[in-house]
Amino acid sequence: MGYRILETDDIPAYLGERGHWEDLADIRVREVSDGNMNRVFLASSADGTRSLAVKQALPWVRVAGPSWPMNPDRADAEARAYEQVAKVAPDKIPAVHGYDPENYALVMEDMSDLEVLRTLLNEGAAYGPHTSARIGEFVAQFSFATSDFGMPSAERKALIAASVSPELCKITEDVVLSEPYVEHEHNHWHPGLDDLAAAFRADTRLRTEVADLRHTFMTSAQALLHGDLHTGSVMVGRREDAPVVRVFDPEFSFVGPIGYDLGLYWANVLVSEERARALGAPSDHAEQLRLSWEAFEAEFRRLWPTRVDTFFDDAYLDRFLRRVWTDSVGYAGTEIVRRIIGFAHLTDLTTLPDPVPASRRALLLGRELIVRREELTDIEAVRAVVESLG
Ligand SMILES: Nc1ncnc2c1ncn2[C@@H]1O[C@H](COP(=O)(O)OP(=O)(O)OP(=O)(O)O)[C@@H](O)[C@H]1O
Ligand SMILES: [Mg+2]
Repeated sequence: MGYRILETDDIPAYLGERGHWEDLADIRVREVSDGNMNRVFLASSADGTRSLAVKQALPWVRVAGPSWPMNPDRADAEARAYEQVAKVAPDKIPAVHGYDPENYALVMEDMSDLEVLRTLLNEGAAYGPHTSARIGEFVAQFSFATSDFGMPSAERKALIAASVSPELCKITEDVVLSEPYVEHEHNHWHPGLDDLAAAFRADTRLRTEVADLRHTFMTSAQALLHGDLHTGSVMVGRREDAPVVRVFDPEFSFVGPIGYDLGLYWANVLVSEERARALGAPSDHAEQLRLSWEAFEAEFRRLWPTRVDTFFDDAYLDRFLRRVWTDSVGYAGTEIVRRIIGFAHLTDLTTLPDPVPASRRALLLGRELIVRREELTDIEAVRAVVESLG
């Protein structure tokens, strides 16, 4: 794949060529990549009044190098998701100044005045009243607009075709929705969890329910998703004394079940709650599922009268939202489990002095959310499971 791999020193000329920057003498660049997959550079003027971020996908996984090839067209998926969100929720993503498909590079707003939500939560901060509500609204606005309720049928079919993302979906199908439940070299866990990891692999009821969620992930083309909506994909802060919430890194975007996005956020919220509990510092964690779901539901219902296909009646909306709820509960469960006994773990738990008690509680919670999702029909029912854990 012959394209230009940008190094720090290449960024000024690159931004100049693409028409993003005029005075190339007045530009400083630093690399801030801290994810696994891609490179991110920040460019700023000496006086700090202008700045931009550049994110480029490499033809491999950044932290592994060329020995782990990865199609850079994940950057196309990221640009496509941003393009759709920009139409309906521009205040909830970084402003995108340009996408260069030949070099898989996105030029966007510098958000380094904000902080990654996971980092703040790990330091013991509270969510505050805005963060989860904005996330719920984000999912509603993005998913409604790219569903058959928000988009004419032919346009939707074109979006589905353009958004097929076999390589990244396969990662999710494997790493999230099957490997943790079978013997696999990717899996690892703390020795204090040996018994639970073995029990989960032997649990046929759990296996069938995960198979159901996996098949829904593979076949339920409800809306364009973010695809990786964890607390490390959210930045928060204040600007001009108003709260700001920005969702970023939608490179796993594809057309799938809406509950996958909500469920991923919930899993991360619930794991963060277990961290806070283990440290004896519970904050406003217990409120976050409710805040995000209520904002999601209210926004989806607010948009419903604008639907493009009115054969879908109000009673169908109720049924549809119930299904999204149930899927969300299930995917919250699969995300919790895979983050403890699967391939990639969460710093929320790994940095605890003793990760075992919180990890055990979270694993048991994850299993309950998966196998009992049909009967956990409201927030109180989910909270009751959290409170009942030993
Ligand atoms: N627009 C931006 N402004 C400021 N910092 C940014 C911006 N985009 C990304 N970053 C920084 O770079 C980091 C990595 O970004 P991002 O998560 O998009 O990359 P990634 O390689 O896809 O990561 P992952 O492996 O987690 O998927 C972020 O955690 C953040 O610190
Ligand atoms: Mg990423």
